[in-house]
Amino acid sequence: MTDDQSLRVSKIENGTVIDHITGGQALNVLAILGIDGTDGEPISIVMNIPSDRLGRKDIVKVEGRELSEEEVDVLSLIAPAATINIIRAYDVVEKHRVTSPDAVSGVLECPNHNCITTENEPVESHFEVLEDGVRCTYCDTIIREDLAAHILAT
Ligand code: CTP
Ligand code: ZN
Repeated sequence: MTDDQSLRVSKIENGTVIDHITGGQALNVLAILGIDGTDGEPISIVMNIPSDRLGRKDIVKVEGRELSEEEVDVLSLIAPAATINIIRAYDVVEKHRVTSPDAVSGVLECPNHNCITTENEPVESHFEVLEDGVRCTYCDTIIREDLAAHILAT
């Protein structure tokens, strides 16, 4: 933790810090988590700050809420280097990397307009996670690039 970062956004007392997010992906991280700020919870977003490891990175701090591993692993699709820090009484009590899930449900929209998971159909989207993309379980369409562009609106 550098002084440079602490000047940008203060430490939080309790909650979750998602660090080492791929630069530019913070808003997509919040979209995937279904967090839009309308609940009134304090959220801090820092984007495109210098990082030794990533060149540039984003950070998202969600106060008063401890995100579960299940909830955050889906973030590996767009932020594979993300670290999750659980904060209690200002201390980092847990730190782990996101790990890729085998599949994701209801997160991405299938680009195949004839797929049974698309709009007006009652079937929730389901993608198997591949090494270099994701594959729709229903129609086998593969998305390799810009997964963020396929995030389902919540
Ligand atoms: N953090 C915070 N509030 C706290 C404690 C930590 O917002 N009360 C943030 C830090 O600003 C940092 C992240 O949580 O972005 C992880 O904190 P820490 O483990 O102290 O930092 P580093 O050692 O730099 O983490 P890493 O080794 O994962 O880079
Ligand atoms: Zn499909």
